[in-house]
This record gives sequence, C-alpha cells and structure tokens, in this order.
Amino acid sequence: MSDKATLEIKGQKHEFPLIVGSEDEVAIDIKTLRGVTGGVTTIDPGFKNTGSCESGITFLDGEKGILRYRGYSIEDLAEKADFLEVAYLLIFGELPTKEQLDKFHADIKEKSVVDEDIKKIIESFPKAAHPMGVISSLTSALTSFNPSSVDVSSDEAMYNAIVKILGKFPVLVAWTMRRRMGLPLDYGDDSLGYVENILKMMFKRPDKEYVQNRVLVDALDKLLILHADHEQNCSTSTVRIVGSSHAGLFASLSAGISALWGPLHGGANQAVLEMLEAIKEDGGDTKKYMAKAKDKEDPFRLMGFGHRVYKNFDPRAKIIKVAADEVLADLGIEDPILDIAKGLEQEALNDEYFVKRKLYPNVDFYSGIIYRGMGIPVEMFTVMFALGRLPGWIAQWKEMRLRKEPIGRPRQVYTGENFREFKSINKR
Ligand code: CMC
Repeated sequence: MSDKATLEIKGQKHEFPLIVGSEDEVAIDIKTLRGVTGGVTTIDPGFKNTGSCESGITFLDGEKGILRYRGYSIEDLAEKADFLEVAYLLIFGELPTKEQLDKFHADIKEKSVVDEDIKKIIESFPKAAHPMGVISSLTSALTSFNPSSVDVSSDEAMYNAIVKILGKFPVLVAWTMRRRMGLPLDYGDDSLGYVENILKMMFKRPDKEYVQNRVLVDALDKLLILHADHEQNCSTSTVRIVGSSHAGLFASLSAGISALWGPLHGGANQAVLEMLEAIKEDGGDTKKYMAKAKDKEDPFRLMGFGHRVYKNFDPRAKIIKVAADEVLADLGIEDPILDIAKGLEQEALNDEYFVKRKLYPNVDFYSGIIYRGMGIPVEMFTVMFALGRLPGWIAQWKEMRLRKEPIGRPRQVYTGENFREFKSINKR
C-alpha cells in the first residue's frame, strides 16, 4: 500500500501522508490541508470519519466487537481485575504491582475528604434536581475548593489532581444520592476497598451497621470496569477539548459529565429502564414498541440499541447480560423487566430493520437492570456511568496534556448571508 493519499482539487494534486496505528488502522494526515490548498477544509458532522487525536489508551474494533484497555481485553479485565487496578492501568499505562496499587489507593484515601461547605451547595439544589446536573456542578465547584489543582505543570501536581478527584468524586456521588433519599451526608471508611467504600457511602443507614454484600461489590466492580473507557466518545472528546484550553481537570470533567447526561450517550441507561417500565405498564406488548422504533414518523427509538462504532455486537453488553442474570439470581430478585428486555432483544436481533442497520444491544441495555437490583434509584444510573468513566476521562485528559495537544478548535463551512449593509432600526 502506498504511504500517501492523493487528493485532487480543481485539477491540482496534493499528497498527504498516511498514519498507521498499532492495529493497522489507517488515517490520512491532513494537518497541512488548509496551508497547501489555500484554505480548503473538510466537513464531517458528528465526526463520523474524523480522528481527533492519536491515543495509546483504548482500542476498539466495532466490526469485530473488540474492546481493549492498554492492550488487555475487556473480557479479561472484567473477570480478573478490580476497578482500581483498571483505573491505574488506564491512567498510567501498566497494570500496577501490589506496592504501586497500595500506594495509589492510600493517596486516593488521603485526598478523599470533601470540604464541608460543599454540603451547603448540595442543600441549595431542589431535592428533586436531576443528580447529573448536581454532580456536574459539584465537580466544577471542587476547583474553587482546590485551586491548586489547575496547575498541572509538574508530574507531582498532575498526580495530586488525579488522586484528589478519584478520592472526592465517590463522596460527591454518595452525597448526591443520599440527599435525594433524605439520608445524612457521611464520609467514607478508610479501612475498605475503593468499591466497597463507595457502596457503604451510598447505602449506610444512620440506624444500622452496614453489612457488605460480596455480590453487590463484585457486580459494581464489573460494571465500573466495563464503563471505564471507550476512546473518543462524546463525553471523552468533551473532556479533551475543554482540557485543551488548559481549563483545570475538574472543570474538564464537569463538562464531560454534562455531555454524558444526554439520552443518546450515558443517559441511555436511565432511558432504557424508563422505556422497559413503560412497556410493562402498557401490558408488555414488545411488538408495539418494535413497530414504533421502526416508524420514521415516530421519534421513539429503542433505547439501549445501536452504537456509533459497534456494528456487530457490543462486547460489554455480552458481559453485562450474563452479570444481570447472575446478580438477580444471587440477590433472589425476579424482575419482570428482565424478561421484557430479553424479549425485545430477541425480536430486534431477528428483525430486518435492526439487522440491516446493524443495531445490537449496547452496554446500557442491561446495566440499569443490575443497578435497579442493587437498589440504586433510576435517576442515579448515569451518575454510576460517570463514576465508572472517571478513570478513562482522566487518562485521556492526561494523555492530551502530556502530548501538548493544541487547543481544540474545529473549522466550519459558512452557509449564512454574504456581506450586507447595516440598516438602521426605522428602515427595517
Ligand atoms: N432504534 C431505532 N432505530 C435506530 C436506533 C434505535 N435505537 N439507533 C439507530 N437507529 C436507526 C436510525 O434511525 C438510522 O436509520 P436510517 O438509516 O433509516 O435513517 C440508522 O439506524 C443509523 O442511526 P444513526 O442515528 O445515524 O446512528 P449513529 O451512529 O449516529 O447513532 C446512537 C448511534 C447510539 C446515538 C443511536 O444508535 C441511538 O440513538 N441509540 C439509542 C440510544 C442509546 O442506546 N445510546 C447509548 C449508546 S452506548 C453508551 C454510550 O457509549 O454512550
């Protein structure tokens, strides 16, 4: 294969180098395009064909259903690693030794205390406020309480900003949920593992000793690992682009959380459960909803189906489907919603509309069922996604800063009015 691509514009030929990734992905390097062509640009709404960066963190092959973090398969990581190990792997590039992991965890715990004044901010939100809006605001507010986190010019300063947010974010998650539920806002338990501590912070009641449930810990560990990174998706691209202006890490993450909130992205896990509930309330007629999803006049989409990149199957969905069965069985829960989900999946997998468009269940199709089994309120589902995605966002932001990427600033093709003379108001 030639190592160049040739573009002919108005009879003029221009050559551009090809970049080949470590999995033989080929990209045309158009960094010089505007310069050599006298201002010609590219247009690609939704960035369906545009690579925004070179990255060594996550590889995914949507045709083959492959997802790997730093070269390790998602299947192996979900089965054999815990979430904190995966966070370390994503952020620092290698699986940690026992000593490295212990130090990382100790540093996170050391920085996990959240300023008491943050409670005043939480209390000023309406109790019914959507937790994604609350958590995005609180994450941004953390900068005011930790102004030194913005300067990441040394390795040490960058490391400190990272362990701070990994320590404090779970506290914010727990407080956001507890405030909705009318529970006191407590701190974590330094003696526990990262994920065990999250569960205790979320669910501990003031009148009872909290008893750890291994099934819940393992299930949450797995869910967080499956959500931990997914290369240049909407929220991650947001984190990278906001961070590219050298806004602080916490502000960049806050923007990523807002991007994740939408139902076409992370908000799908809440939307899936609400859809399944609505189908159940409506008598469980899955065929009716399949027809709605296919009707181009109807805005309804089968939530939890389809993916921008996966056009074969989502490997995370496969793992989650098995986990949903196991967790509900272990907890002794029979959930009719799970049957509706399985019925819909079967119908969609055999339906020409879905087959032709390569629409398969995605990670969010079954995750909500597990969260519900764990007792997590539906509005918190996307917050749980954010908790899982946190190490991925951090790793991508860190990579962007260390590679000294330029500020993100796309071009456009202007289609508005040409020059017009200004008319004073009485002449319009
Ligand atoms: N139900 C019905 N039709 C669909 C669906 C769906 N869930 N998803 C895509 N289509 C159709 C769409 O109407 C279009 O049909 P046509 O070619 O006839 O116009 C075709 O499939 C291609 O869809 P698209 O919107 O151009 O594809 P996209 O790559 O821009 O969007 C998506 C991907 C995930 C936004 C979309 O599939 C979707 O809206 N799914 C439902 C929301 C969802 O589950 N999101 C979670 C994604 S996974 C978690 C994450 O990483 O955020």
